[in-house]
Amino acid sequence: MPVTEPTVQLIDHLDRGHLRQALERDVREGLAGTPKHLPPKWFYDAAGSELFARITRLPEYYPARRETAILREHAADIAALARADTLVELGSGTSEKTVLLLDALVAAGLRAYLPVDVDAVTLRRAAGRLAARYPGLAVRAVCADFERHLALLPREGRRLVAFLGGTIGNLAPDAREVFFKDLRAVLDPGDTLLLGADLVKDTERLVAAYADAAGVTAAFNRNVLHVINRELGADFDPGAFDHVAAYDAANEWIEMRLRARRDMRVRIPALGMVVAFAAGEEMRTEISAKFRPAGLSRELAAAGFTVRRWFLDPSGDFSVVLAAA
Ligand code: AVJ
Repeated sequence: MPVTEPTVQLIDHLDRGHLRQALERDVREGLAGTPKHLPPKWFYDAAGSELFARITRLPEYYPARRETAILREHAADIAALARADTLVELGSGTSEKTVLLLDALVAAGLRAYLPVDVDAVTLRRAAGRLAARYPGLAVRAVCADFERHLALLPREGRRLVAFLGGTIGNLAPDAREVFFKDLRAVLDPGDTLLLGADLVKDTERLVAAYADAAGVTAAFNRNVLHVINRELGADFDPGAFDHVAAYDAANEWIEMRLRARRDMRVRIPALGMVVAFAAGEEMRTEISAKFRPAGLSRELAAAGFTVRRWFLDPSGDFSVVLAAA
């Protein structure tokens, strides 16, 4: 009998024109800024998603393993509290950890899974894999930007919105406030949010998680330059930038930067820009905020969520919080 790949419906909210405009705007504004900066969203083309999947397996990158341990330990508790018909997963990537949740949620009556991601290639592959694993589950992949398309998420049955991996940390406090409020506004009473958040800890371990010995995070960081070269015809020399990971103790976030090794002029034809870098100049490519449960509880409450339960791993490195709309 031929093996048939289950077909997965892909709902695409990222029309390429808009995506392209958003990239152009982010690059134009970010490279004209002082200091220069780029949003982390543009790391994730197919190569970047693959590099991130490799990061999650690095010995230094504790968040992925800690969160996996929490989900393994508490998936049944989460399923019992959420009583969800539909799981919506924001920034689902390869959906590797989602299986832990899905096993418990499907056993408790889940009917649909909607992974949401900006990278259509990775999304389709992950959705196909999970559709094959859970024959009774309706899997619909949603290609979307979780900061722009929350209002378009399907409203069917009781929903659990999972936002895992600590990706919330990519948003600066003001953007986080907007995100929580916008998300709360599209949820109905009974819907829940499952949020993974990395916790404040000693600086050495934080920095090591973003500056691995094998250089995978450095390659991930530089990938944004490859993306800009390909999409906007730029002539960045990624090898001429050093990877920097630093902890900002006042803001309690990790910053990733790319530091120019020499003076450079980079042409970006699609934007009609020539951008000068001085030797040693640093461009910020990501913030990854670290949290304290009390502070995050306050932020959730301010957006209209009620915290139902905190789940911490035994070492207190990482947290997953379930909050009700
Ligand atoms: C996917 C946003 C959770 O901030 O830890 C990993 C991305 N950057 N190593 C994180 C990332 C560098 C990651 N998130």
